[in-house]
Amino acid sequence: MNILVTGGAGYIGSHTCLQLLRAGHEIVVVDNLINANEEAVRRVQKLAGKSFPFYQFDLCDGNRLDEVFTHHTFDGVIHFAGLKAVGESVSIPLRYYGNNLNSTITLCRVMARHNVKRLIFSSSATVYQPGSPMPVNEDAALGCTNPYGWTKFMCEQILRDIAAADPTWSVVLLRYFNPIGADESGLIGEDPSGIPNNLMPYITQTALGRLEKFSVFGDDYDTPDGTGVRDYIHVVDLAQGHMDALAYATQHTGSVAINLGTGVGYSVLDIVRAFEKVNDVKVPYQIAPRRPGDVATVYADPRKAKQLLNWQAEKNLEDMCRDSWRWQSMNPKGFAEA
Ligand code: NAD
Ligand code: WQD
Repeated sequence: MNILVTGGAGYIGSHTCLQLLRAGHEIVVVDNLINANEEAVRRVQKLAGKSFPFYQFDLCDGNRLDEVFTHHTFDGVIHFAGLKAVGESVSIPLRYYGNNLNSTITLCRVMARHNVKRLIFSSSATVYQPGSPMPVNEDAALGCTNPYGWTKFMCEQILRDIAAADPTWSVVLLRYFNPIGADESGLIGEDPSGIPNNLMPYITQTALGRLEKFSVFGDDYDTPDGTGVRDYIHVVDLAQGHMDALAYATQHTGSVAINLGTGVGYSVLDIVRAFEKVNDVKVPYQIAPRRPGDVATVYADPRKAKQLLNWQAEKNLEDMCRDSWRWQSMNPKGFAEA
């Protein structure tokens, strides 16, 4: 298939591009590099042994996007582009609503104009109302605690409405849990600019010695060891989920939301211990107060992905820890090194 990948220079997008190329698909990437480095695109091309068109511009620019759709024929779009830092979204909400909603609306307008109506959207477990029973399934109540989450919630609603109004659309809303890990090559991986937002980059940067120690946010949760429990999923498994969602979208119209998680929860200390053991490195930490907005436990009910996509996570916690560390230790400064 010919696939447009928005945000394809980013963490999840780059891994999905690689998998699409390896499976024989043709891709075109649009990314404004606001949170990515073009080196990721070069490395994907190198790993796949295949080049593809890369356009650097803001997806909110409908004219530029229209030109891309005029020059290429697409069977579908995987829409990763978006801003994703939860804390930043609380400080500068308009930037998040502006970017994430406008880019999605602009994309859909251009897609409709060119009669491309197959879309895989990057949603998030963050759309589930805090306090939902675990494991959380796709029918759980929705509701968010921060502007980033609301942008995902609103984009989902917009896409459901588009698919309801025009039954020729096919929309798959993939709700990711906590992606970590990297391609086995160690050549691509998560490269947060500035201070990381998520757990794994803190762990890898502490293991490198760039941070003296990292803070475990709370050890008094109602969990087996008191630290927060999440559903960590290997980014390569996640990438495969997009391929399976694309295949599903070629057979079905309408809209559907699907969790991409493993169904298994690990605590912060489980992750630290597994990381230290599999990589034979030390990760010094201190117990710090709870982070505002965090909940004790989040993990997926992954059965719908199995039923509809025949997808399930294949990689385990050791794979995730080993691959995250291989990427970070081979690229201590991320893509900036290149
Ligand atoms: P990322 O920041 O690495 O990738 C997003 C990419 O989109 C970046 O390369 C960025 O430059 C690009 N981008 C942002 N706004 C753009 C715009 N207006 N025009 C063109 N390009 C733009 O993030 P990621 O971790 O790869 O996440 C991909 C998607 O998955 C995002 O939509 C994110 O919200 C969602 N998601 C991520 C996680 C996670 O924990 N990583 C979890 C759930 C959902
Ligand atoms: C995981 C666990 C922390 C950092 C976020 C977004 C969510 C989704 C995925 C996009 C928690 C603990 C973390 C640290 C720690 N993103 N932690 N010390 O909060 O589950 O989800 O990323 O859609 O929307 O909210 O992920 O990696 O930040 O935290 O103890 O330095 O690690 O408290 O228990 P989270 P995370």
